[in-house]
Amino acid sequence: MLNKITVVGAGNVGATAAQRVAEKELARTVVMVDVVEGVPQGKGLDQWQSAPIEGFDSRVVGSNGYEESADSEIVIITAGIARKPGMSRDDLLNTNAGIVKQVAEQVKKTSPNAIIIVVSNPLDVMCYVAKQVTGFPRERVIGMAGVLDTARYRAFLAEALDVSVRDIQAMVLGGHGDTMVPLISYTSVSGIPITQLMDRAKLDAIVDRTRNGGAEIVKHLKTGSAYYAPSSGAVQMAEAIAHDQKRILPCSAWLEGEYGLKGLFLGVPCKLGRNGLEKIIEVDLTVEERAALEKSAEAVREPMRAVKL
Ligand SMILES: NC(=O)c1ccc[n+]([C@@H]2O[C@H](COP(=O)([O-])OP(=O)(O)OC[C@H]3O[C@@H](n4cnc5c(N)ncnc54)[C@H](O)[C@@H]3O)[C@@H](O)[C@H]2O)c1
Repeated sequence: MLNKITVVGAGNVGATAAQRVAEKELARTVVMVDVVEGVPQGKGLDQWQSAPIEGFDSRVVGSNGYEESADSEIVIITAGIARKPGMSRDDLLNTNAGIVKQVAEQVKKTSPNAIIIVVSNPLDVMCYVAKQVTGFPRERVIGMAGVLDTARYRAFLAEALDVSVRDIQAMVLGGHGDTMVPLISYTSVSGIPITQLMDRAKLDAIVDRTRNGGAEIVKHLKTGSAYYAPSSGAVQMAEAIAHDQKRILPCSAWLEGEYGLKGLFLGVPCKLGRNGLEKIIEVDLTVEERAALEKSAEAVREPMRAVKL
């Protein structure tokens, strides 16, 4: 068990993530930080009071400052505003960049050795903001998007095939946006290539639904966006790090030439362990997948240039 994990932002994603971290006992103390007075304190106390029933010993506390979060080993950043219906992730750009900048400055000051998992949108650009502001090496600034996008893809495939979600292996790469790249060539069901189990038209429809997975939920909810699966995604990454699992998960990572790309965050297969991002794995891509990844990179570069730091 780690000593301390902090979740910044005690909204839908942050509070759900804090509860999941505590239930998994990933750290002795879980600190929730938010700017709204009383909210992190109230939610933290409420979560801690579920401990005797759920049977966990992680202590959850809430705060409006960063003193209590000092020397966290992992910091999950979920602060920001969420998408409203009709709003793209990039509409959120400058508001959330300002918020993530302020959070990153505090994290750098109070938890200089932390591994940061960024969740705030637009994801790949917010990772860039966090990395620029903290000056942390790429091993310690990682974005959560691919795990969520892959989970959505796996859930849709399991439903369509009427098989266990556990048996679906898949990988969604690229930016967290409409240009994400679900890798059909690496999608299998217990080792059986997906193309042997499903016709191409059905598969394409699922890929399309995955691309719009976030928007589908925003449309239902009307006020706010998804948070159960997003918090699961962030906590799976935190768990891989806390328990040094060396899991291979699709995460947004700072590229330094991998896949022929550099100087941006993009979703790629990553090995996560106690040192954070321990390795980026380069897999062979089809001509179409490579073209889609490059298009996705361009969709990340554009807002990256526009962001004011
Ligand atoms: N990467 C992904 O796959 C993914 C998935 C879902 C949501 N998100 C993003 O995560 C973010 C949070 O979503 P949510 O649904 O929890 O939103 P939310 O509105 O429920 O919560 C956001 C919280 O951040 C807090 N906050 C604002 N400014 C802050 C600051 N400077 N310091 C600390 N806290 C601050 C707010 O008070 C609020 O409680 C959004 O940007 C959303 O787009 C990303």
